[in-house]
Amino acid sequence: MLTLNKTLGVLCRLPKWQIRGFLRSFTFRPGKQFLHKLVLGIETSCDDTAAAVMDETGNILGEAIHSQTEVHLKTGGIIPSVAQQLHRENIEKIVKKTLCASGVTPNELSAIATTVKPGLALSLGVGLEYSLQLVNQYKKPFIPVHHMEAHALTIRITNKVDFPFLVLLVSGGHCLLAIVQGISDFLLLGKSLDIAPGDMLDKVARRLSLIKHPAYSTMSGGKAIEHLAKQGNRLHFDFQHPLHYCRNCDFSFSGLQTAVDKIITQKEKEEGIEEGQILSCAADIAAAVQHTVASHIAKRTHRAILFCQQRGFLTPSNAILVVSGGVASNLYIRRTLEIVTRATNCVLLCPPVKLCTDNGIMIAWNGIERLRAGLGILDNTEGIRYEPKCPLGVDISKQVGEASIKVPSLKI
Ligand code: KG4
Ligand code: ZN
Repeated sequence: MLTLNKTLGVLCRLPKWQIRGFLRSFTFRPGKQFLHKLVLGIETSCDDTAAAVMDETGNILGEAIHSQTEVHLKTGGIIPSVAQQLHRENIEKIVKKTLCASGVTPNELSAIATTVKPGLALSLGVGLEYSLQLVNQYKKPFIPVHHMEAHALTIRITNKVDFPFLVLLVSGGHCLLAIVQGISDFLLLGKSLDIAPGDMLDKVARRLSLIKHPAYSTMSGGKAIEHLAKQGNRLHFDFQHPLHYCRNCDFSFSGLQTAVDKIITQKEKEEGIEEGQILSCAADIAAAVQHTVASHIAKRTHRAILFCQQRGFLTPSNAILVVSGGVASNLYIRRTLEIVTRATNCVLLCPPVKLCTDNGIMIAWNGIERLRAGLGILDNTEGIRYEPKCPLGVDISKQVGEASIKVPSLKI
């Protein structure tokens, strides 16, 4: 009722032509009325086929997801053609399930938002092709979504976070630090020079043959490492911290992965076991790797916060660090980052775990944010393409390196 009153109040103040346009954007059917604009979000950039319907106040009306993790665990990594086939088999089911759960028909949607960049070409193609079919059939506006922008803005579903804020995105496919100045206004402070931390943890988990352990066989590599690490002693192994001599906000994980590989091979020899069997020191290795990853991420984030504070990008009243992406669900990494935010008078915010990993809700939300701001809504989809590679925002990482900020050491 309150919402209805508010809406009527706004309507009374609008000129007639705007009221007509406003009312046209809703569908009124006997017995069923949606007061708010509705967006269907579709995500297929990697290995999750996901969809959600959301209204403009952030209510999730329905959602569905099909995860390919188990299949890719068995093949030892994502095979793009397999991911494409699985997206093809599931996309229609997932979208129908989402609409059904929402009680919304395609005609009642205000727009369709879909991830078009960056991601695996074959996976992005399936989502885009299916979305364009819907868009053309139901004559709906289309909102192309940048996957990383969507991850970065997800926090605004659950928390009142104003621009600007700092975001750290860490997952299987990405690793970056950026200042979020607006819905599509980002400044990139640093990114991984090679692989992402989730990818590295997945590879280490595979090399440790954790898939053969019943307790970990269905978990993603990162999650398996986090669980195993709880039983280990990180001090039994000492891995060099990546890029410790570079005073910038870039990341690197492939050197660490090679070092871990070497240790595992050496330990296999010492313990006289074949590759594929689980080492007795696997938990210690997991704990040491997790600690090195957490420290590396924390150090770069600490520098990013100091840079932002030095240049006035983060005001003391709104010094917020948002951490998202699959790796952000790791509690050891979160706690390490908490030490950094406490030392720098920042507030650390993480979306709920379900919203940290890839999902349809974040894409629908990006559609809502864009719809509300009138940004990037296409009535004509001619020439729209997916882009497997697409940087996030304006790259100012060189300025960060030139600032050469020394990060004080913190006890982790
Ligand atoms: O965001 P996400 O679902 O997909 C993309 O990569 O975009 O993230 C998946 C990644 C995987 O590499 C997985 O191993 C990692 O996130 N991950 C974790 C944890 N849970 C998932 N890494 C560390 N600790 C976890 N608890
Ligand atoms: Zn992602």
